[in-house]
Amino acid sequence: MAKLKIALTKGRIEQSTIQLFEEIGINCDFLRNKKRKLVFESPYDDYEFILVKAVDVLTYVQQGVADIGIVGSDVLYEDEREQYEMLDLQIGKCKFCIASTPDYDPFDYRRKIVATKYPRTAAHYFQAKGEDIEIIKIEGSVEIAPLLGLADAIVDIVETGDTLRENGLVIFEEMLPISTRLIVNPASLKRKKREVCQLVDKLAAHIQTKEEAVT
Ligand code: PRP
Repeated sequence: MAKLKIALTKGRIEQSTIQLFEEIGINCDFLRNKKRKLVFESPYDDYEFILVKAVDVLTYVQQGVADIGIVGSDVLYEDEREQYEMLDLQIGKCKFCIASTPDYDPFDYRRKIVATKYPRTAAHYFQAKGEDIEIIKIEGSVEIAPLLGLADAIVDIVETGDTLRENGLVIFEEMLPISTRLIVNPASLKRKKREVCQLVDKLAAHIQTKEEAVT
C-alpha cells in the first residue's frame, strides 16, 4: 500500500476530524497529545498527517505535497483555486451570516460597508443580490467592526452564535451552510487510486450510517 499524506486543518475542526478518522478505525492517538509537533507519521497504518492552517491545506494539496486535505467549505468558497472535492464529511457545520447591531437596517438605500474575513464570498453574495457594497477586509474578531462604527454589518461564520450574542449582535440573514470537506490532489487520485478510494469509501459509508441513525 502506498502511503497517504493527509493535510488536516488546525483549530476549529481538528478534534471532530480526528474523531471521525477514529470512528472508521484509524488510530490517531498520536494526534491527540501532539504538543507543538506538526508532522505525524502513523505508527499503525500507512498514513502521514500534517496539521496546518485551513488555507494552507489547499496549497499543500494543490502542490501535491499532501494527497488529501480536510478543510471547511468556507475556505473553499473564499479561495479562487479549483479543488477536487470528493466528500462532505458532515462535521464542522456552521453558516455564513450577515450580522450587525439590532438597529441595523438591511433595506437602507445607502451604500453599505461590510467588514469580513471573507471578502470574496461577501462580494459574490451581494453581487448576486444586485447590491453594491463596500467591503473592508478584517483578519479576526470581526464582531468589533459594527460596534465601533467601522462597518454597517459583518459577513462571518456563525457556529454556536455565542460570539454574536456576547457582543450584542444579531443575525439579519443566513447566507450559506458550511461543512467540512475532503479534497484530493488529482494526480494522487490517479497514482494512489486504491488507497484514496478505500479511505473515501469507508468515510462515506460511515457518514451514511450515522445519518441514517438520526433520521
Ligand atoms: C469564528 C468566527 C466568529 C466565531 C463564531 O472565529 O469568525 O468570530 O468563530 O463562532 P460561534 O458562533 O460559535 O461563537 P474564530 O474562532 O475562527 O476566530 P477569529 O475571530 O480569530 O477568526
